Amino acid sequence: MNLAELTQSYDFSGKSVVITGGAGSLGGEMACALVGCNANVAILDRDTALAERVLKRIDTKVGQVIVVYGDVLKADSLEQARKVIVESFGRIDGLINTAGGNRPEATTGPDRSFFELSDEALRFVVDLNLLGTILPTKVFGKQIAEQKEGSIINISSMAALRPLTRVVGYSAAKAAVTNFTQWLSTYMARECSPKIRVNAVSPGFFLTDQNRYLLTDRDTGALTQRGQSILDHTPMRRFGQPEDLLGAVLWLLSPLSAFVTGIVLPIDGGFSAFGGV
Ligand SMILES: NC(=O)c1ccc[n+]([C@@H]2O[C@H](COP(=O)([O-])OP(=O)(O)OC[C@H]3O[C@@H](n4cnc5c(N)ncnc54)[C@H](OP(=O)(O)O)[C@@H]3O)[C@@H](O)[C@H]2O)c1
Repeated sequence: MNLAELTQSYDFSGKSVVITGGAGSLGGEMACALVGCNANVAILDRDTALAERVLKRIDTKVGQVIVVYGDVLKADSLEQARKVIVESFGRIDGLINTAGGNRPEATTGPDRSFFELSDEALRFVVDLNLLGTILPTKVFGKQIAEQKEGSIINISSMAALRPLTRVVGYSAAKAAVTNFTQWLSTYMARECSPKIRVNAVSPGFFLTDQNRYLLTDRDTGALTQRGQSILDHTPMRRFGQPEDLLGAVLWLLSPLSAFVTGIVLPIDGGFSAFGGV
Protein backbone atom coordinates (compact mmCIF):
# COMPACT_ATOMS: atom_id res chain seq x y z
CA MET A 1 0.00 0.00 0.00
CA ASN A 2 1.18 3.51 -0.75
CA LEU A 3 0.05 6.91 0.48
CA ALA A 4 -2.40 7.40 -2.40
CA GLU A 5 -4.10 4.06 -1.66
CA LEU A 6 -4.19 4.85 2.06
CA THR A 7 -5.79 8.22 1.37
CA GLN A 8 -8.27 6.57 -1.00
CA SER A 9 -9.39 4.25 1.81
CA TYR A 10 -10.61 7.26 3.76
CA ASP A 11 -12.44 8.81 0.83
CA PHE A 12 -16.09 7.95 1.50
CA SER A 13 -17.44 9.38 -1.77
CA GLY A 14 -20.72 7.69 -2.68
CA LYS A 15 -21.05 6.11 0.79
CA SER A 16 -23.78 7.14 3.17
CA VAL A 17 -23.68 6.96 6.94
CA VAL A 18 -26.50 7.36 9.47
CA ILE A 19 -25.55 8.77 12.88
CA THR A 20 -28.18 8.38 15.60
CA GLY A 21 -27.90 11.07 18.26
CA GLY A 22 -25.98 12.96 15.60
CA ALA A 23 -26.81 16.30 17.21
CA GLY A 24 -24.84 15.35 20.33
CA SER A 25 -21.27 16.15 21.31
CA LEU A 26 -19.65 12.97 20.01
CA GLY A 27 -22.05 12.21 17.13
CA GLY A 28 -21.85 15.81 15.87
CA GLU A 29 -18.06 15.62 15.67
CA MET A 30 -18.28 12.36 13.72
CA ALA A 31 -20.81 13.93 11.32
CA CYS A 32 -18.49 16.87 10.59
CA ALA A 33 -15.50 14.56 9.99
CA LEU A 34 -17.41 12.20 7.72
CA VAL A 35 -18.81 14.99 5.56
CA GLY A 36 -15.25 16.30 5.29
CA CYS A 37 -14.21 12.84 4.02
CA ASN A 38 -16.85 13.05 1.25
CA ALA A 39 -19.47 10.82 2.90
CA ASN A 40 -23.18 11.52 2.65
CA VAL A 41 -24.32 11.83 6.25
CA ALA A 42 -27.77 11.59 7.80
CA ILE A 43 -27.81 13.24 11.22
CA LEU A 44 -30.68 11.52 13.01
CA ASP A 45 -31.90 12.97 16.27
CA ARG A 46 -35.13 13.67 18.09
CA ASP A 47 -34.08 17.31 18.40
CA THR A 48 -33.73 18.46 14.82
CA ALA A 49 -33.13 22.09 15.83
CA LEU A 50 -29.97 20.99 17.65
CA ALA A 51 -28.99 18.88 14.67
CA GLU A 52 -29.31 21.95 12.44
CA ARG A 53 -26.64 23.54 14.63
CA VAL A 54 -24.24 20.76 13.66
CA LEU A 55 -24.87 21.69 10.02
CA LYS A 56 -23.60 25.19 10.74
CA ARG A 57 -20.28 23.74 11.93
CA ILE A 58 -19.68 22.06 8.58
CA ASP A 59 -17.93 24.69 6.52
CA THR A 60 -16.69 22.65 3.57
CA LYS A 61 -19.56 20.46 2.44
CA VAL A 62 -17.82 17.89 0.29
CA GLY A 63 -20.33 15.14 0.99
CA GLN A 64 -24.05 15.82 1.37
CA VAL A 65 -25.63 16.11 4.78
CA ILE A 66 -29.25 15.90 5.87
CA VAL A 67 -31.00 16.20 9.21
CA VAL A 68 -33.67 13.57 9.83
CA TYR A 69 -36.07 13.30 12.74
CA GLY A 70 -35.93 9.97 14.52
CA ASP A 71 -36.44 8.72 18.04
CA VAL A 72 -34.29 5.65 18.62
CA LEU A 73 -36.99 4.19 20.87
CA LYS A 74 -39.79 4.59 18.33
CA ALA A 75 -39.55 2.05 15.55
CA ASP A 76 -42.10 3.83 13.34
CA SER A 77 -40.09 7.06 13.39
CA LEU A 78 -36.97 5.09 12.43
CA GLU A 79 -38.81 3.45 9.52
CA GLN A 80 -39.87 6.89 8.34
CA ALA A 81 -36.28 8.10 8.67
CA ARG A 82 -34.98 5.12 6.68
CA LYS A 83 -37.32 6.00 3.80
CA VAL A 84 -36.14 9.62 3.78
CA ILE A 85 -32.47 8.59 3.90
CA VAL A 86 -32.75 6.00 1.15
CA GLU A 87 -34.71 8.45 -1.01
CA SER A 88 -31.95 11.04 -0.48
CA PHE A 89 -28.83 8.89 -0.75
CA GLY A 90 -30.00 5.66 -2.40
CA ARG A 91 -28.33 3.40 0.14
CA ILE A 92 -26.94 3.08 3.67
CA ASP A 93 -23.35 1.92 4.08
CA GLY A 94 -22.68 2.81 7.68
CA LEU A 95 -24.57 3.20 10.94
CA ILE A 96 -23.16 4.80 14.06
CA ASN A 97 -25.37 4.41 17.12
CA THR A 98 -24.37 7.34 19.32
CA ALA A 99 -27.75 8.13 20.91
CA GLY A 100 -27.45 7.21 24.57
CA GLY A 101 -26.90 8.71 27.98
CA ASN A 102 -27.63 8.67 31.67
CA ARG A 103 -29.94 10.38 34.14
CA PRO A 104 -29.12 11.73 37.62
CA GLU A 105 -32.21 9.91 39.04
CA ALA A 106 -30.69 6.58 37.94
CA THR A 107 -27.39 7.38 39.65
CA THR A 108 -26.56 6.70 43.30
CA GLY A 109 -24.99 9.45 45.43
CA PRO A 110 -24.91 10.94 48.92
CA ASP A 111 -28.63 11.76 48.68
CA ARG A 112 -29.79 8.68 46.75
CA SER A 113 -29.02 5.11 47.71
CA PHE A 114 -29.37 2.18 45.31
CA PHE A 115 -32.63 1.27 47.09
CA GLU A 116 -34.13 4.67 46.34
CA LEU A 117 -33.30 4.85 42.65
CA SER A 118 -36.24 5.73 40.47
CA ASP A 119 -37.55 2.65 38.64
CA GLU A 120 -38.73 4.88 35.85
CA ALA A 121 -35.28 6.48 35.44
CA LEU A 122 -33.54 3.08 35.52
CA ARG A 123 -35.88 1.77 32.85
CA PHE A 124 -35.31 4.92 30.79
CA VAL A 125 -31.51 4.55 30.92
CA VAL A 126 -31.51 0.85 30.07
CA ASP A 127 -34.00 1.40 27.25
CA LEU A 128 -32.17 4.38 25.78
CA ASN A 129 -28.73 2.76 25.72
CA LEU A 130 -29.67 -0.83 24.91
CA LEU A 131 -32.93 -0.71 22.94
CA GLY A 132 -31.83 2.67 21.55
CA THR A 133 -28.99 0.75 19.90
CA ILE A 134 -30.90 -2.38 18.93
CA LEU A 135 -33.99 -0.74 17.38
CA PRO A 136 -32.10 1.53 14.92
CA THR A 137 -29.87 -1.42 14.06
CA LYS A 138 -32.93 -3.48 13.15
CA VAL A 139 -34.20 -0.76 10.83
CA PHE A 140 -30.98 0.57 9.23
CA GLY A 141 -29.14 -2.75 9.59
CA LYS A 142 -31.86 -4.42 7.51
CA GLN A 143 -31.07 -2.04 4.68
CA ILE A 144 -27.35 -2.82 5.08
CA ALA A 145 -28.14 -6.56 5.14
CA GLU A 146 -30.08 -6.22 1.87
CA GLN A 147 -27.09 -4.48 0.32
CA LYS A 148 -24.79 -7.26 1.67
CA GLU A 149 -22.07 -4.82 2.70
CA GLY A 150 -21.55 -2.22 5.41
CA SER A 151 -20.22 -1.27 8.80
CA ILE A 152 -22.08 -0.72 12.06
CA ILE A 153 -20.47 1.02 15.03
CA ASN A 154 -21.98 1.04 18.51
CA ILE A 155 -20.86 3.17 21.43
CA SER A 156 -20.07 1.26 24.58
CA SER A 157 -18.30 2.70 27.63
CA MET A 158 -15.65 2.10 30.24
CA ALA A 159 -18.62 1.35 32.49
CA ALA A 160 -19.19 -1.83 30.47
CA LEU A 161 -15.75 -3.26 31.07
CA ARG A 162 -15.79 -2.98 34.85
CA PRO A 163 -18.86 -1.31 36.37
CA LEU A 164 -18.20 2.21 37.59
CA THR A 165 -19.53 3.31 40.97
CA ARG A 166 -22.84 5.21 41.01
CA VAL A 167 -24.00 4.67 37.39
CA VAL A 168 -25.75 1.35 37.89
CA GLY A 169 -28.30 1.32 35.07
CA TYR A 170 -25.89 2.92 32.62
CA SER A 171 -23.16 0.34 33.39
CA ALA A 172 -25.56 -2.56 32.93
CA ALA A 173 -26.92 -1.14 29.69
CA LYS A 174 -23.50 -0.44 28.18
CA ALA A 175 -22.30 -3.95 29.14
CA ALA A 176 -25.30 -5.19 27.18
CA VAL A 177 -24.31 -2.98 24.22
CA THR A 178 -20.89 -4.67 24.22
CA ASN A 179 -22.58 -8.08 24.28
CA PHE A 180 -24.99 -7.07 21.51
CA THR A 181 -22.06 -5.84 19.37
CA GLN A 182 -20.42 -9.25 19.57
CA TRP A 183 -23.69 -11.08 19.02
CA LEU A 184 -24.63 -9.05 15.97
CA SER A 185 -21.15 -9.25 14.45
CA THR A 186 -21.51 -13.02 14.39
CA TYR A 187 -25.10 -12.93 13.14
CA MET A 188 -24.36 -10.50 10.31
CA ALA A 189 -21.24 -12.33 9.12
CA ARG A 190 -22.86 -15.79 9.21
CA GLU A 191 -26.47 -15.08 8.28
CA CYS A 192 -26.30 -11.99 6.06
CA SER A 193 -22.87 -11.34 4.54
CA PRO A 194 -19.25 -11.62 5.66
CA LYS A 195 -18.87 -8.08 4.32
CA ILE A 196 -21.05 -6.65 7.08
CA ARG A 197 -19.02 -5.76 10.13
CA VAL A 198 -20.22 -4.75 13.58
CA ASN A 199 -17.86 -3.17 16.10
CA ALA A 200 -17.99 -0.73 18.99
CA VAL A 201 -15.84 2.01 20.39
CA SER A 202 -15.60 2.37 24.12
CA PRO A 203 -14.84 5.99 25.00
CA GLY A 204 -13.10 6.79 28.24
CA PHE A 205 -14.15 10.02 29.92
CA PHE A 206 -15.13 12.85 27.64
CA LEU A 207 -16.39 15.98 29.33
CA THR A 208 -19.74 16.48 27.59
CA ASP A 209 -23.22 17.62 28.63
CA GLN A 210 -24.28 14.15 29.72
CA ASN A 211 -21.57 13.68 32.40
CA ARG A 212 -20.58 17.23 33.27
CA TYR A 213 -22.67 17.10 36.47
CA LEU A 214 -20.69 14.06 37.66
CA LEU A 215 -17.21 15.30 36.78
CA THR A 216 -17.35 19.02 37.55
CA ASP A 217 -19.08 21.17 40.14
CA ARG A 218 -22.23 22.83 38.75
CA ASP A 219 -21.43 26.22 40.34
CA THR A 220 -17.64 26.52 40.24
CA GLY A 221 -16.73 24.23 37.33
CA ALA A 222 -13.98 22.72 39.51
CA LEU A 223 -13.33 18.99 39.28
CA THR A 224 -15.46 16.86 41.58
CA GLN A 225 -13.76 14.15 43.62
CA ARG A 226 -14.95 11.69 40.96
CA GLY A 227 -13.56 13.86 38.14
CA GLN A 228 -10.19 14.04 39.91
CA SER A 229 -10.22 10.30 40.58
CA ILE A 230 -10.83 9.64 36.87
CA LEU A 231 -7.87 11.80 35.87
CA ASP A 232 -5.73 10.04 38.50
CA HIS A 233 -6.65 6.72 36.85
CA THR A 234 -6.11 7.94 33.29
CA PRO A 235 -2.41 7.62 32.46
CA MET A 236 -2.66 10.44 29.90
CA ARG A 237 -4.12 12.64 32.68
CA ARG A 238 -6.77 14.37 30.63
CA PHE A 239 -10.39 13.94 29.55
CA GLY A 240 -11.03 12.91 25.95
CA GLN A 241 -11.96 15.43 23.27
CA PRO A 242 -14.66 14.44 20.74
CA GLU A 243 -12.04 14.43 17.96
CA ASP A 244 -10.11 11.71 19.81
CA LEU A 245 -12.73 9.23 18.54
CA LEU A 246 -12.42 10.10 14.88
CA GLY A 247 -9.44 7.93 13.89
CA ALA A 248 -11.13 4.80 15.24
CA VAL A 249 -14.51 5.59 13.72
CA LEU A 250 -13.13 6.39 10.26
CA TRP A 251 -10.97 3.25 10.37
CA LEU A 252 -13.89 1.02 11.39
CA LEU A 253 -16.00 2.42 8.55
CA SER A 254 -13.19 2.12 6.02
CA PRO A 255 -12.00 -0.90 4.01
CA LEU A 256 -8.78 -0.84 6.04
CA SER A 257 -10.64 -2.71 8.80
CA ALA A 258 -12.18 -5.24 6.36
CA PHE A 259 -11.21 -8.24 8.57
CA VAL A 260 -12.24 -6.62 11.85
CA THR A 261 -15.60 -7.46 13.38
CA GLY A 262 -16.91 -7.92 16.91
CA ILE A 263 -14.30 -5.76 18.63
CA VAL A 264 -14.84 -3.10 21.27
CA LEU A 265 -12.06 -0.58 20.95
CA PRO A 266 -11.16 1.44 24.06
CA ILE A 267 -10.36 5.10 23.40
CA ASP A 268 -9.58 6.12 26.91
CA GLY A 269 -6.11 7.61 27.41
CA GLY A 270 -5.05 4.31 28.98
CA PHE A 271 -7.80 4.13 31.66
CA SER A 272 -8.66 0.49 30.96
CA ALA A 273 -5.00 -0.58 30.91
CA PHE A 274 -4.07 0.98 34.24
CA GLY A 275 -4.33 -1.09 37.40
CA GLY A 276 -4.46 2.01 39.58
CA VAL A 277 -1.14 1.40 41.36
N1 LIG B 1 -19.31 11.64 26.99
C1 LIG B 1 -18.65 10.59 27.45
O1 LIG B 1 -17.69 10.68 28.24
C2 LIG B 1 -19.03 9.22 27.00
C3 LIG B 1 -18.25 8.15 27.43
C4 LIG B 1 -18.60 6.87 27.03
C5 LIG B 1 -19.69 6.68 26.21
N2 LIG B 1 -20.43 7.73 25.82
C6 LIG B 1 -21.56 7.46 24.95
O2 LIG B 1 -21.39 8.16 23.73
C7 LIG B 1 -22.66 8.46 23.17
C8 LIG B 1 -22.74 9.95 22.85
O3 LIG B 1 -22.48 10.68 24.03
P1 LIG B 1 -22.43 12.27 24.05
O4 LIG B 1 -21.51 12.64 25.15
O5 LIG B 1 -22.18 12.80 22.67
O6 LIG B 1 -23.92 12.60 24.51
P2 LIG B 1 -24.90 13.74 24.03
O7 LIG B 1 -24.16 15.00 23.68
O8 LIG B 1 -25.98 13.81 25.05
O9 LIG B 1 -25.48 13.14 22.66
C9 LIG B 1 -26.47 12.18 22.62
C10 LIG B 1 -27.48 12.62 21.57
O10 LIG B 1 -28.48 11.60 21.48
C11 LIG B 1 -29.74 12.24 21.46
N3 LIG B 1 -30.81 11.37 21.93
C12 LIG B 1 -31.13 11.06 23.21
N4 LIG B 1 -32.20 10.27 23.24
C13 LIG B 1 -32.57 10.08 21.95
C14 LIG B 1 -33.61 9.37 21.34
N5 LIG B 1 -34.53 8.69 22.06
N6 LIG B 1 -33.70 9.38 19.99
C15 LIG B 1 -32.82 10.06 19.25
N7 LIG B 1 -31.80 10.77 19.77
C16 LIG B 1 -31.69 10.78 21.11
C17 LIG B 1 -29.56 13.41 22.39
O11 LIG B 1 -30.61 14.33 22.25
P3 LIG B 1 -31.18 15.11 23.56
O12 LIG B 1 -30.16 16.16 23.85
O13 LIG B 1 -32.49 15.62 23.08
O14 LIG B 1 -31.29 14.11 24.68
C18 LIG B 1 -28.20 13.92 21.95
O15 LIG B 1 -28.32 14.76 20.81
C19 LIG B 1 -23.68 7.98 24.20
O16 LIG B 1 -24.12 6.69 23.86
C20 LIG B 1 -22.89 7.94 25.49
O17 LIG B 1 -23.44 7.05 26.42
C21 LIG B 1 -20.13 9.00 26.18
